[in-house]
Amino acid sequence: MQRRTFIRNSGMGLAAWAALPQELPGFDQVIPDLNAYAAGHEGLSLVEDEGYWDIVRTAFRREGNYINLENGYFSPQAEPVLLSTQRNAAYINATSSHFMRREQEQAIETARTALAGFLGVDVAELALTRNTTESLNTVIAGFPWLRGDEVVIGNQDYGSMNEAFEQNARRYGFSIKTAEVPLLPQSDEEIVKAYTRHIGIKTRMLHLTHLINLSGQVIPVVKIARAARAINPGICVVVDAAHSIAQLNFRLPDLEADIVGASLHKWLCNPLGAGMLWMKRDWIPRIWPLMGDTGAAPDNIRRFEHQGTRPLQNLMSIPHAIAFHRSIGTELKEARLKFLMKRWASAAAEMPALHLQTPWSSEGRNSAIATVNHDSLSPGQLAQLLFDKHKIFTVAIEHPIVKGVRITPHLYTSLNEVDALIRALRNPAGS
Ligand SMILES: Cc1ncc(COP(=O)(O)O)c(C=O)c1O
Repeated sequence: MQRRTFIRNSGMGLAAWAALPQELPGFDQVIPDLNAYAAGHEGLSLVEDEGYWDIVRTAFRREGNYINLENGYFSPQAEPVLLSTQRNAAYINATSSHFMRREQEQAIETARTALAGFLGVDVAELALTRNTTESLNTVIAGFPWLRGDEVVIGNQDYGSMNEAFEQNARRYGFSIKTAEVPLLPQSDEEIVKAYTRHIGIKTRMLHLTHLINLSGQVIPVVKIARAARAINPGICVVVDAAHSIAQLNFRLPDLEADIVGASLHKWLCNPLGAGMLWMKRDWIPRIWPLMGDTGAAPDNIRRFEHQGTRPLQNLMSIPHAIAFHRSIGTELKEARLKFLMKRWASAAAEMPALHLQTPWSSEGRNSAIATVNHDSLSPGQLAQLLFDKHKIFTVAIEHPIVKGVRITPHLYTSLNEVDALIRALRNPAGS
């Protein structure tokens, strides 16, 4: 596919890029190869086709003499996205205040439009932030709390959100109820009940982590939200989608949430420092921005973007990150990542000393991420042995509910690497 055709198909507005560097050799090389390879293959038949993933792998620069299975922190950018970001950084540097005063706004709107199209949301409901932490702190701190209100959160929500709720509970006098989400649920109803038992007329907000970063468990957001609204129709359903956006194949409105926050430097593989905050139209005037903004109309989503001077290349890259993502597609990406996860998790499930902390075989509840605990090694000891003896980089999770080593493959992870993990798990102390 010619670059021009590719850009048109990917939804990137050419007009807005007219003033920006046009050459994207990385895209020219990788995308046509992927398209050519995929041409003769039916949809998901590529999941186990290593020839295809070998091409994907060429798009990612990797350094270091180890296997990286800790891709749950953030994602590297594909080389074409990195190149375009570097060019944009150079362009901003060269045009300096002229860019900021004359071109920045258009660049932001181009990014917003591309992201809104990707997520399937109205562009007027989407703010570009720096990450999930900023998006959700905005909502938690800016919610019109009244003394005596209640919020329901989950026992495996992300630490920064817990801290945001605790700090603002002290400040505004609301109270926090915590749902005990089971580690290995048998049914969706079990999870729904864990939340609904805390919901009542005082509940103003329900905070759900769509894909739990500690274990990779995906919770049934829609069922929980519907059950909560059946008890209290006015409740504001806030979803932390940090790990699910661009990893799981869904459109954002499918979540039936009121507000969603996510990071784009995780599974969309955008450069570090870009996030999103989507808010249903009705909520926009009711939430206070984190950073003062009285200039924009109360119903203007841009009032949540008052961040001061910042590296715009990290937002300008969004259309490119989406374009690279679309060249594979979310359905295939999700299927490949789950295939890699199940390859090692199914082997680990047969090892007597290991205990999976994830509903790894349960479709709809699983993801790329899974966590495994060892009978006689602490998570820290196991992670250290995996690195020292086998050159496999992972992360130890020491959480009151989830304990183990978290394994997160990426699109560039090969079957050989997963098989090396399986061998290492069989004999962690061996070389
Ligand atoms: C579930 C979840 N929420 C929020 C975050 C915070 O993301 P960020 O650091 O990009 O703000 C993370 C980070 O890993 C996460 O896993």
